[in-house]
Amino acid sequence: MQKIIAANWKMYKTRSEAAQTARDLAESGVPANRRVVIFPPFTAIAEVADVFAGSTTVAVGGQDVYPASEGAFTGEISTAMLREAGASWVLTGHSERRHVLGEQDDFVAAKTSFALAQSLNVMLCIGETLREREAGQLQAVLRRQITTAFVRLPSDRLEKYFAIAYEPVWAIGTGKVAESAEVLEAHAVTRKTLCDIVGKIGCKIPVLYGGSVKLDNAAALIALDNVDGLLVGGASLAAQSFAQIVNA
Ligand code: 13P
Repeated sequence: MQKIIAANWKMYKTRSEAAQTARDLAESGVPANRRVVIFPPFTAIAEVADVFAGSTTVAVGGQDVYPASEGAFTGEISTAMLREAGASWVLTGHSERRHVLGEQDDFVAAKTSFALAQSLNVMLCIGETLREREAGQLQAVLRRQITTAFVRLPSDRLEKYFAIAYEPVWAIGTGKVAESAEVLEAHAVTRKTLCDIVGKIGCKIPVLYGGSVKLDNAAALIALDNVDGLLVGGASLAAQSFAQIVNA
């Protein structure tokens, strides 16, 4: 099975910087058992998409989306705007949107179902805070985040166009990667929840791990049960380090 290696560039890189990184990445190629998705800032989506135009292995996505076709939503971005810029994917529910910008499960759910219905591939991010983990709430938090998001999902699009990224909040940007046992446990909970809610199709939804992924832990993480890919932040900003992770 092809594993998905995704790059979240967050609020880094101007258009010219993103285009340069994309060109550098394009030179490295993608092995047959990997697919790559790059999430640049909105302003750089078109530049990055141009570099990978026609590619069957590298896709581009938006880091967020608003759940309406258009309207008076200052600062937001629509599915049509993303698609025309060259994005075929979108992230929803990233922990920085949930915890820095205050997005609640319901809003994340609305974005997720809207984007899927509008023909974007969605990577829904879930994950617990350190406080929740220490309070023994891992399973409850992941189940809640997944269940809420699934209330209105168009099930016909789930099989091919949906992925989940498990990103423990305490491992994001901290250098503190989750231990193998912690990743195994969280991915098993996620997998079971998906199978319980959507049945057969849910059992096949790719579940990626994210949080301080680096070259020295990428190969071990991706070899774990139920880990179908990686969502990389800091280590995806330099083309060389991301290319090494893609090839790990
Ligand atoms: P880091 O890899 O920098 O920890 O970021 C992870 C992340 O948030 C990817 O979406």
